[in-house]
Amino acid sequence: MGDFIEWDDAFSIGITEIDDQHKTLIGYINRLKSALDNKENHIETLRGVLAGLFNYTVYHFFAEEQIMETTQYPMYPKHKTEHMEFTNRVINYIEMFTDNKIDITEDVLNFLKQWLLTHIKHTDKALGNFLINKKP
Ligand SMILES: [Fe+2]
Repeated sequence: MGDFIEWDDAFSIGITEIDDQHKTLIGYINRLKSALDNKENHIETLRGVLAGLFNYTVYHFFAEEQIMETTQYPMYPKHKTEHMEFTNRVINYIEMFTDNKIDITEDVLNFLKQWLLTHIKHTDKALGNFLINKKP
């Protein structure tokens, strides 16, 4: 059986460093999916996977934001807002999960998948095109 999210070259934004980080991020979401599928739903396991996903997301967004800042990318504010909205959503999931108010379900996984793939294919792709065109 394939992974929940399979990497597709259509996801590439043409910048290897960022593509590699996106692959890692997809790996975290797949890890969360397989934890649920394999009934590894002990609270400590899921908490650990969610923490890993969150920490890597923060690291990756910061890396992109640094690039956008140093290259004076004109869409930087809008792009950063999308990152913040996603980060807040994930914090919210983690808090609700920790407080026992939600289970991590297919709905949560589908949100993570849809958000990430849409963001990569549109928002990050636009950044990739800007960076490629900027190269001397
Ligand atoms: Fe991004």
